[in-house]
Amino acid sequence: NNNGAKAGKTRNIAEMLEESNKNCIIFYGSQTGTAEDYASRLAKEGKSRFGLETMVADLEDFDFDSLDSVPSDKVVMFVLATYGEGEPTDNAVEFFEFVTAEDAQFTQGADVPLGNLTYVGFGLGNNTYEHYNLMIRAVDKALQRHGATRVGEAGEGDDGAGTMEEDFLAWKDPMWAALAEKMGLEEREAVYEPIFSLTPSETLSVDSPEVYLGEPNKMHLEGTAKGPFNAHNPYIAPIVESHELFTVKDRNCLHIEVDISGSNMPYQTGDHLAVWPTNAGAEVDRFLSVLGLTDKRNTVLTVKALDPTAKVPFPAPTTYDAIVRYHMEICGPVSRQFLATLAAFAPDEETKAEMAKLGGDKDYFHEKINAHHLNIAGVLESVGKGKKWTNIPFSAFVEGINKLQPRYYSISSSSLVQPQKISITAVVESQVIPGRADAFHGVATNYLYALKQKQNGDPNPTVFGQTYEITGPRNKYDGIHVPVHIRHSNFKLPSDPSKPIICIGPGTGVAPFRAFLQERAKQATDGENVGETLLFFGCRKSTEDFLYKDEWEEYKKAMGDNFELITAFSREGAKKVYVQHRLKERAEQVNKLLEAKAYIYVCGDAANMAREVNSVLAQILASQRGISEAKGEEIVKNMRASNQYQEDVWS
Ligand code: FAD
Ligand code: 2AM
Repeated sequence: NNNGAKAGKTRNIAEMLEESNKNCIIFYGSQTGTAEDYASRLAKEGKSRFGLETMVADLEDFDFDSLDSVPSDKVVMFVLATYGEGEPTDNAVEFFEFVTAEDAQFTQGADVPLGNLTYVGFGLGNNTYEHYNLMIRAVDKALQRHGATRVGEAGEGDDGAGTMEEDFLAWKDPMWAALAEKMGLEEREAVYEPIFSLTPSETLSVDSPEVYLGEPNKMHLEGTAKGPFNAHNPYIAPIVESHELFTVKDRNCLHIEVDISGSNMPYQTGDHLAVWPTNAGAEVDRFLSVLGLTDKRNTVLTVKALDPTAKVPFPAPTTYDAIVRYHMEICGPVSRQFLATLAAFAPDEETKAEMAKLGGDKDYFHEKINAHHLNIAGVLESVGKGKKWTNIPFSAFVEGINKLQPRYYSISSSSLVQPQKISITAVVESQVIPGRADAFHGVATNYLYALKQKQNGDPNPTVFGQTYEITGPRNKYDGIHVPVHIRHSNFKLPSDPSKPIICIGPGTGVAPFRAFLQERAKQATDGENVGETLLFFGCRKSTEDFLYKDEWEEYKKAMGDNFELITAFSREGAKKVYVQHRLKERAEQVNKLLEAKAYIYVCGDAANMAREVNSVLAQILASQRGISEAKGEEIVKNMRASNQYQEDVWS
């Protein structure tokens, strides 16, 4: 990802603005693409409504000590996501460290280094995590400390409350008003101007070897893919094992193993595997159909950025089919603002009015679209009552729909036991939506579910009754391969195996603990001194979703009394029993282990479980040590800070 700073281009922010005739640069710190998307939307809106000359930029591509050279008639925007436990996103680590340092050294060395800087800030966070929106808060504070002037509020979007999009929309209008006043900008009637041109090629056909049909980059296209494999360059890993872990019919949980030998991509117990999904064939067909592009799906397109600072978000030349199938998050939630943009291209006046209403009325949008989990094709089908939307410039989709994102999975194998084979444990996402005929299906997990069938020898996988067409680019990795990379994490076993550990992981939260147990059982078998190991696992019923039920017994054989599995089956008795209830029953033992410096690990649901475990732990400390609950909470906080308490949670 190198927006703006392509090879040979300057890394100096002020120079870049000068050279490219821009007066607004929008930096994003993005992990899953949302912050990047919001940055693009701000750029677009700034240009079309206010005539700002905007550009979007990856924080990684610039030197931040040049922030002090940006003149006061230009504006710098920061759209910053906070990741996990108050961490910067991967691309924002260096920026964050630089700007928040007490003694940040800017190029000109002035006493008030950022006295000329005008900036705007929006943060993306999740209130279920302790350090809510830490990135924007800390960066905002640091910029002010260095003398910069903020325009508008430092906005905060909350993914935990599910209000991210609305928080963003509510923040941006007063910000634009304040910025227009500050910079003397005139608002004008917004007219859509495409950023990309997609032109049918006159010379290339779908069979031409230089046409991308889903290959993620040039090396993959040319068949010379080599490492390092990372977030820009996936490894196409063979699936060597896949089976069902649940024993009920209506829900699925997959155990999948990929072979990474030959990738030179080492992993460590506790890391995450990123899976690059493909959209379901049926959804690709539906999307192309509602746009009237079915017959043109294999038209070869040359793609150009009309603005030299914009970067085409997929490799080209390519086809509509490949763009939609491999590069666009066509099934994800639809943005209200995007519907307002599309209204201008509606097939008739009535449809146009309805789209404008959806775009403008938050409650109406929620009732009609969000509540049904409709994706963009679903919206266009239902609002257009079956008419084709042939007037929308395709660039609007490239700009308005997120890039298809890899999904992360906690690795459930130990790198000590199987260094070349990574396993993950994934629950297949399927939700019955009231008032909707078909169930909602998650993208990556249903793709994996179809791959599982193929790997097991079924040539025509079905997903919930429908045939699921799987294709890889040119069928090179059709069916039994999956593109992946590894993301290193801080969720790690103590380096000294004799330290006791307490693991809490209901549902798929048990994934990394299967890895931990695999590792400790092996160490015990090898004669190492392995400390006491408690695992709290919860599921609905012992007969339905008891993950790795038989394996725990194997580990028990290897570790003897040093391993204890404590289960909480929530739907077997009259009352719900959860892991945190079991934890409380073991208060004395848990406290003793913690006094013996046991490490404690929590994995799984961030929204409720991890929070409740956190507070039960504080209660345990309070009751066992005869201290106040507030003091108990403080101890838990300190345990987090010293890594004695580690979380691997998601919502
Ligand atoms: P998606 O298609 O991404 O849908 C996910 C959710 O998004 C839906 O449930 C819905 O709430 C919302 N959504 C999507 N589309 C729409 C729409 N059109 N309208 C409204 N809402 C919509 N999962 C595991 O099973 N095992 C693990 O070990 C695991 N580890 C993880 C570790 C980390 C660090 C993280 C961040 C996540 C982890 N996850 C794990 C979750 C996993 O990454 C995926 O989020 C999950 O599998 C769902 O992916 P999907 O593509 O199938 O669903
Ligand atoms: P439930 O679905 O019966 O409520 C894995 O999903 C297990 O986690 C299930 O047994 C589920 O129970 C349980 N669970 C649901 N909410 C929880 C919470 N807030 N804390 C701990 N476990 C929870």
